[in-house]
Amino acid sequence: MSKGKLQKFAEMETFSNVFQYPFSVISKEAFPMKGLWNDNYFHNANPIVLELGCGKGEYTVGLARAYPDVNFIGVDIKGARIYTGARQALEEQLDNVAFLRTNIEFIDNFFAKDEVREIWLTFSDPQMKNVHKRLTSTFFLNRYRKFLIDNGLVHLKTDSGFLFTYTTYLIEKNHLPMVFRTENLYANEITSNESQNYSMPDDKTREILGIRTYYETQWIERGLNIKYMKFRLPSSGTLVEPEVEIELDDYRSYKRPKRSELLTSK
Ligand SMILES: C[S@@+](CC[C@H](N)C(=O)[O-])C[C@H]1O[C@@H](n2cnc3c(N)ncnc32)[C@H](O)[C@@H]1O
Repeated sequence: MSKGKLQKFAEMETFSNVFQYPFSVISKEAFPMKGLWNDNYFHNANPIVLELGCGKGEYTVGLARAYPDVNFIGVDIKGARIYTGARQALEEQLDNVAFLRTNIEFIDNFFAKDEVREIWLTFSDPQMKNVHKRLTSTFFLNRYRKFLIDNGLVHLKTDSGFLFTYTTYLIEKNHLPMVFRTENLYANEITSNESQNYSMPDDKTREILGIRTYYETQWIERGLNIKYMKFRLPSSGTLVEPEVEIELDDYRSYKRPKRSELLTSK
């Protein structure tokens, strides 16, 4: 590990806004603040919003600045990335921010029923090969349901046509309420949804959607459209995977089997 990373990790141990619970820790001891984030950390009764796969936490910090009466928690397994957002939040004295370093697969170990109001997924890896690793798969949605309020909002902002299409099919198949959807956020294009009367974002929402993350900036520089949707996740009803073949993102590596000309995946 580089010296820079080691220094960041050592410094992060002293950060009051970072909780580090990788598998090696959470497999041995229960998280003591499950159900108690507001009482024991934020010291208020404000709603809690998560950013999953937050990287450097641009959304966690940006949203916290815009909404001081909401509590934001960024979650990622990579400590060196979390460091950037956590440090910024401390410097700006944003007391409505926390970061959790863990694997999102165990996310339901950290929050109690109805403890979270909304979830943001920002430029998540599309995981074209493994549906169970996709952060919008039924595998993960069933975990989110354990702590998200009934009909809580899930926001997905992505460069990936694959992940966006997959999630759209999943939402349709399960009749989840779509609140807003655009395939080209910065062109203000509202896709086929206009006919379904999705509301246009107001100025504040536009400002929020204008926050650009580290990965987002790179994808924009490569000329990709940024896509965004938000949908509601009801707590009840069985969720099923869509049975569709989806065109792979051609700009990402997919580790195709030798001699395979695979262009789609489920
Ligand atoms: C492509 S990056 C996007 C980071 C950031 N949201 C951005 O837009 O710049 C995906 C992030 O998700 C994190 N991640 C992916 N799968 C994860 C998992 N199962 N548990 C925790 N973090 C995960 C990675 O560590 C990485 O920081």
